[in-house]
Amino acid sequence: MSKLPVVIFGNGTFSDLAWYCLTHDSDFQVIGFTVDRAFLSAEVHEGLPVVAFEDLPRYHPPDKVRLLIPLGYRAINGLRRERYRAAKAQGYEFISYVSSRASIWPDLRVGENCMIYEHAIIQPFACIGDNVIVRSGAHISHHCSVADHAFVAAGVTLGGNVTVGEQAFVGLGAVVRDGLVLAERSLIGAGAVVLANTEADGVYVGNPAQKTGRSAREATER
Ligand SMILES: CC(C)(COP(=O)(O)OP(=O)(O)OC[C@H]1O[C@@H](n2cnc3c(N)ncnc32)[C@H](O)[C@@H]1OP(=O)(O)O)[C@@H](O)C(=O)NCCC(=O)NCCS
Repeated sequence: MSKLPVVIFGNGTFSDLAWYCLTHDSDFQVIGFTVDRAFLSAEVHEGLPVVAFEDLPRYHPPDKVRLLIPLGYRAINGLRRERYRAAKAQGYEFISYVSSRASIWPDLRVGENCMIYEHAIIQPFACIGDNVIVRSGAHISHHCSVADHAFVAAGVTLGGNVTVGEQAFVGLGAVVRDGLVLAERSLIGAGAVVLANTEADGVYVGNPAQKTGRSAREATER
């Protein structure tokens, strides 16, 4: 059976990682990359053609390929959300990648344009929205809900029934007590221990996690 052709957005480290995982651990065939014209520095990347995102429909029409947009958490996941929405408005459909080494259950609901990396554990009754990244070794307990455009970094532990709001970011190794709600666009710093619900756009660090003075957008601008 021929593999489904996929174009990956980006030419940075996250896109390279996605390309590597799809190449070695999926039934998809990566046939090229696309980047914003302003970032088009080479016509070939990882041996595959790169085209400007603005020209994508001309080279790879929406009925011929699927897309994967594995961007990071810049602008509190806003950049990934915007490119995802722009491509969707042009009629593109998306794949999702779930590592064969992730620990999941048969009824897991995962949306489109998601990346679930190796050794992530996603327990029964948890669900993952669209355009979500779950990095390696994250533990997402039963009945958790991870909303669209969120990012769960490596080694995070979410207790049962946690809600991760839209565009929220949970940093490396953070722990979130069961039943909490992380508001939309809240940013949990690496290693934080979150013991109370968070507010939209807030940045939280430490144990117990405390809100800092910065906004999540400011902290993720670069
Ligand atoms: C929370 C975070 C976004 C803060 O970034 P920032 O706003 O640029 O903050 P700064 O680095 O300027 O640090 C500001 C202060 O917060 C402290 N701080 C920053 N991150 C912290 C963290 N995770 N835990 C505890 N304190 C932290 C700094 O020590 C500094 O303290 P000081 O003012 O007493 O010197 C960032 O440190 C972080 O944890 N990012 C997540 C990284 C990650 O998980 N990456 C995943 C890659 S896939």
